Amino acid sequence: MKIKEKEYQKRRKKLLKSINEGVMLVPSASHQTRSNDTEYPFRQNSNFYYLTGFKEDNAILLLKRTKKSLKSVLFVQSKDRDLELWTGERLGVKAAKKRFNVNKVYDVKQFDNRVKKLLKNSKNVHIDLFNNSSFLKKVQNTCKTLDSDRSVKISPQNFLHVNTKIEKMRLIKSDSEIKTIKEAIRITKIAHENAMKMVHPNQFEYEVQSSIEHTFKSNGAYSDAYTTIVAGGNRANTLHYIKNSHLLKQGDLLLVDAGCEFEMYASDITRTFPVSRKFSKPQKKLYNMILKVQRNIINAIEPGIKRSYLQRMCEEQLCQGLIDLKILKGKKKKLMKSNAHKKYFPHGVGHWMGIDVHDECPYSDEHGKELLFKKGMVLTIEPGIYIDKESKNVPAKYRGIGIRIEDNILVTKRGFKNLSKKIAKTVKEIEQLS
Ligand code: GLY
Ligand code: MN
Ligand code: MN
Repeated sequence: MKIKEKEYQKRRKKLLKSINEGVMLVPSASHQTRSNDTEYPFRQNSNFYYLTGFKEDNAILLLKRTKKSLKSVLFVQSKDRDLELWTGERLGVKAAKKRFNVNKVYDVKQFDNRVKKLLKNSKNVHIDLFNNSSFLKKVQNTCKTLDSDRSVKISPQNFLHVNTKIEKMRLIKSDSEIKTIKEAIRITKIAHENAMKMVHPNQFEYEVQSSIEHTFKSNGAYSDAYTTIVAGGNRANTLHYIKNSHLLKQGDLLLVDAGCEFEMYASDITRTFPVSRKFSKPQKKLYNMILKVQRNIINAIEPGIKRSYLQRMCEEQLCQGLIDLKILKGKKKKLMKSNAHKKYFPHGVGHWMGIDVHDECPYSDEHGKELLFKKGMVLTIEPGIYIDKESKNVPAKYRGIGIRIEDNILVTKRGFKNLSKKIAKTVKEIEQLS
């Protein structure tokens, strides 16, 4: 299942070829302090991982293009028995030379010296301009020294955001990336269906969370892809509810938005199901309305369409559904124009997904032209309706219900593949499982 070094090498080459000249710098993530002497679990920087597949901290990838050559250099931590006693085993320079098809591997302690030499004769530095200010500053200071050094003829003058180029590449998934995402979804399916089976009234939301996360880990997924959302009853109307601290009540619906990360690739699945086995009539009505809309949107996915088309379709159909259920009153055209439906559906139809649960590529290109769907893109489709318990204008039977249904979709040559279609979703499937 592991993506091979050859593929990472291909990605580095492709990225290098996307610029005419310059140096690209992508550092790893670093450990983050949680409180005195304790740290959050380490999570590698997504772009660094995409280009190396390397999971260690304190590493830096440097790519350089000149008129004559393409060069790749990796800086890693050297072996150090004393430090490894505390922070764990390191690959080290010697083993990194064997593992990575790069021109050079150096001890990261040499970075300041080496980068000075490597930045000479380049005009452009491609670097993350927004998320790692200390690294940016360090490199800018090196460039400043070069600039004031009379013996250096050409020194970097332009700083460009490297992430934009990497994110564009990440948008189209390779076969091995798709396989990895499928494995994440396979494990997430077990977790969601276990949650449907184990949930019962008078349980805390965090008990369901712990079942889900236990299932992730016991099936080979080291981590979740984002903080698990387990929202009972009215709390489902808080879109990113992560407290998961309340008691579940008989008759409530439970919204679970949870996905594991497998080998650094995300899954992002939401299912909404009854705490006490059976949907009530109004819950079922609202649920089936949203499910139908979700199916229609998914069925419309094919190469050549735009996300805004799906967004519009989602809003139109949910608006009509709300009218049919008498939650909204009036003519659809007028309601749409006044955005009345947005009170109950305030978010997007879905987002790109990959190494990040929200893969970062913008929906339009640098000229403002919206991207057309292409084979290999992966996105979520996640319509929902959220009716707060205080919604006085809505029939009482629907108040306090929040429902979202979310699947992960691959754009294929002729249409789409719903990668998560096997996760129980219809009322019948859910009730049979419970
Ligand atoms: N899990 C967050 C989202 O659905 O976007
Ligand atoms: Mn999502
Ligand atoms: Mn989600």
